[in-house]
Amino acid sequence: MALIPVVYYSYHPALHKQGAPVTVFDDALRQLVRDMIETMYHENGVGLAAPQIGISKQIAVIDVSNERDKPFCIINPVITEKTGLEMMEAGCLSVPGTYDSVSRATWVKVRAQNENGEFFEIEGDGLLGHCLQHEIDHLFGKLYIDYLSPLKKKMRLKQMEKALKAQRFK
Ligand code: NI
Repeated sequence: MALIPVVYYSYHPALHKQGAPVTVFDDALRQLVRDMIETMYHENGVGLAAPQIGISKQIAVIDVSNERDKPFCIINPVITEKTGLEMMEAGCLSVPGTYDSVSRATWVKVRAQNENGEFFEIEGDGLLGHCLQHEIDHLFGKLYIDYLSPLKKKMRLKQMEKALKAQRFK
């Protein structure tokens, strides 16, 4: 098991482009998924996408349970159905130290593969629905602050830089 450093907005190209679909489901992939889950827990995140650790592939891990014991991964995910629209507070490990509201579908259904290549469907609203949309966005190079107005986005990035600086001098 290993922790992998998280990269920050504009600090790594993988964050800002579409990830490659996964075609090989081998032990190396399963190890990567385990490391991503460990990293997500270490960073106190409810989700982590491969681009956030500098890997441009369509892999994300999620755990929205209170007990932090129900992790799963979505590989090559596609949103097949969605309904409603609501504003939700968002934060991101790749944009530390800041939050903002973004518009999301109220409910989504997603088709994806697991770490063994098996297809499955997952659906959800609330935090799970939000998290699915947030992580899938990551796999297409989109972060929540990309939805904000240019002015707001600039403000959030400034806050991030402040938070990073504070972290460095801790
Ligand atoms: Ni994120």
